[in-house]
Order: sequence, then C-alpha cells, then structure tokens
Amino acid sequence: MNYALHKAKLFNKYPAIQDLKMKAKKRIPNVAWEYLETGTGKELTLDRNERAINDIQLVPKFCKGQLNPNIGIELFGESYRAPFGVAPVGLTGLMWPKAEIIISKVAKLYGIPFSLSTVATETPEIVGPYVNPNGWFQLYPPKNKSLRRNLLDRARSSGFKVLLVTADVPAPSRRERTKRAGLTMPPRIDPKFFIEGCKNPAWTWKTIQRGLPRLRTIEGYSEFKDMMSVGAFVQNNMGGNLSWDYCEELREYWDGPIVLKGVLHPDDVQRSIDIGFDGVVISNHGARQFDGAPSSIEVLPSIVQKFKSRTKILFDSGVRSGLDVLKALAIGADFVLLGRPFIYGVCALGEIGVAHVIELLKDDLSNNMIQCGIERLSEVSQIPIFSPSVHNNDRIK
Ligand SMILES: Cc1cc2nc3c(=O)[nH]c(=O)nc-3n(C[C@H](O)[C@H](O)[C@H](O)COP(=O)(O)O)c2cc1C
Repeated sequence: MNYALHKAKLFNKYPAIQDLKMKAKKRIPNVAWEYLETGTGKELTLDRNERAINDIQLVPKFCKGQLNPNIGIELFGESYRAPFGVAPVGLTGLMWPKAEIIISKVAKLYGIPFSLSTVATETPEIVGPYVNPNGWFQLYPPKNKSLRRNLLDRARSSGFKVLLVTADVPAPSRRERTKRAGLTMPPRIDPKFFIEGCKNPAWTWKTIQRGLPRLRTIEGYSEFKDMMSVGAFVQNNMGGNLSWDYCEELREYWDGPIVLKGVLHPDDVQRSIDIGFDGVVISNHGARQFDGAPSSIEVLPSIVQKFKSRTKILFDSGVRSGLDVLKALAIGADFVLLGRPFIYGVCALGEIGVAHVIELLKDDLSNNMIQCGIERLSEVSQIPIFSPSVHNNDRIK
C-alpha cells in the first residue's frame, strides 16, 4: 500500500467518512450492508447517538499563535499515535473478506489499537502477527471454563495484550432490519444471492477466494463445523453467562489490562473498579443491543465526574469524525473507539480505505484542536463545552 501517493486525491474525493460510507454501500450486498448498519428496534438509540454528539458544542478560543497539535497518547502502558482505535466487530468477513487482516495491518502501521472479536471471521493466530503490540482481544464469555481459558490462552500467545470483556450482550438482540434483509447463517444461496453477487463483483471475487464467512475462532470448539451449528453453539455457550463472579475469575486469569466493554451505569463502573478491572468502555454497542438505552455520550459526563483518574474511561458509539473524537475527549474520555467507520473504509477501498479513515480522523482531530486553541491532548479539559442536552455548561466561564 502506498497511501502517500493517493493522499491528496483521496482527501478531495472522499473528504469525510460519510463519503466512504456511500462508496462502501455500493460495493457490498444489501444483506451485508444491513448487518453492518442496523441498530435494533425502532433504531431510536441509533438516532440518539448521532444527535447527542452533534448537539455538543465546543467554544473556540483564539490568538494562540502557531499551534502544532500532538495527538499521541499513552494507554495501558503502550504509546499510541492517536487517541482512537478499532472497536471489535463480529462476522466481519461478511462485509469484506479478510477485513480483520486488512484493518489490523493498517492499524499497526498507524500505531493505533486493533480489537479482534470472539466472533470475528479470522482467528487470533491468523491476525496475531499483524497486531503486536497493539492487539486487543474481545471476549464473549463462554460458559465452559476450559474453553474460556483456552480462548484466552490463544489470544495471549498470539500477541493480544488488552482484554475487552463485553457486558452489554446479555441476550442476542432482535435486529429487525437484518431479518427483513434476509440474513441467515450460512447465507442462503438463492437467486437473490446470485443477483447480489453480480451487482458486487469485487466482493464476490474476494468471497470466492476466501470462502463464505465462518466464525473461524469458535468453530473448532463446536462438534459440527457448518455455520448453522457454529452459530447455535455460540448462542448456547457464549451468551448470558457474564456475572461479577465470572468477571473476578477473568481478572485472576488474565495478566494484562482488562476492560469492561458496554456499560452505561455508574454502579457497573464502580463494581468493575472494585474487582480490579483497568477500564470501562462507555458504549451502547453502536445502538445494536437495547433500543431503550441512552446515547453513550449523554452518560459520559456523569461517569467522568465520578470516576475520572480512578479507572480508564473509553468511549464509543456514534463517533464519525475527528471532531467527534475531540468532543468525547473534551468531556473526559481517555480514549475513543470506532466500529463501523473502519468497515466503511475497507469495503470502499480496501487497505487504502482503512488508511484513509485514520488519516481523516487524525486530520480532523488536529485541525479542530487548533480551532479550539490547544496543541496537546492534556489540554482538552480546558476546552469550554456548551451543550444543551449533555453538559451542564459550567465550563463556560
Ligand atoms: C457489525 C458490528 C458488529 C459488532 N460486533 C461486535 C462484537 O463482536 N463484539 C463487541 O464487543 N462489539 C461488537 N460491536 C460493537 C462495536 O464494538 C462498537 O461498540 C460499536 O460499533 C461502536 O459504535 P459505532 O459503530 O457507531 O462506532 C459490533 C458493531 C457492529 C457495527
């Protein structure tokens, strides 16, 4: 990949993540698009995520002379070159074959973390060589203790350093949109499938090369390897098992940083601190699980007020630009994750598309830091926030 060669052209042709999103939609089958984009229920939380971030306003301050933003950051003992990273996304190969390999490679090149889902379509062993030292592994909690330990051992020995334990999937969500789109596992090979294949030749060719998406990490544990049996295995063995006792056991077993992903309530943050977790991700799972949830940015201020400096506060759900990243950091998040945007990048333009997402985020973040009159991330808390729905505005002096 020679991104530098294409950079100027890409910045003109795709000046925002939204432009890559539109390109991605045209290159993948409808069923894959619907799986990626869907929230759940009436998608009220999906709307809320976007609206609440948009509503936050940062009041700029000027006359600071020449500013040269530095967006590097330390987290869990690693230095990252930007304050954002790749959130775990499952069934990734449905959207784009080998997506995990492509995204993890580019994430490493750019010095940002990459998170591999338990239900990704590539294994920790395959992705491991591309991630060290920026690999994070996401766990959906297996009921069976030896399976659980085996999975964690595989992640650790493949080079994954940080463990994300997903809390916000106590049951599969309904995701009506994917049902309407006809998503089945394995994908149904019917005339519609062939028509969609013809309409998306690049996706089809890559899928022929890699094969239909499989849950490669998990399939080895299932008695039958066909996709339907593996899907049923995941549902029966990996959902609804998480409890605080379970989390304590994970804490004892995993010797690196461990983070509870997908919490919104202060009690859950407190409990995670009590049992020795190193951080939380304030997230509503990109609005895919519970349509009654608040947007995660709306709960962030109260979590920051109670827990800043007592645990690492990561944030995701609805972030679509460098300015959105800056807003979350200004409210007090220590780090930001994004899910769908990296998938838009890979579906739109492959490796170069992922690089372009990162470049867009970096450029927009740096530019907006200058607009706000700061050049270090340690100064973000000085940015005055004005937000009718989210913040009490007392930082406007
Ligand atoms: C298609 C898709 C699959 C996802 N799969 C997982 C997963 O396997 N494990 C997990 O913890 N979160 C999963 N998430 C949630 C993301 O990690 C993240 O919380 C969410 O995408 C953030 O919202 P955003 O897409 O608006 O950035 C998934 C999200 C999407 C869009």
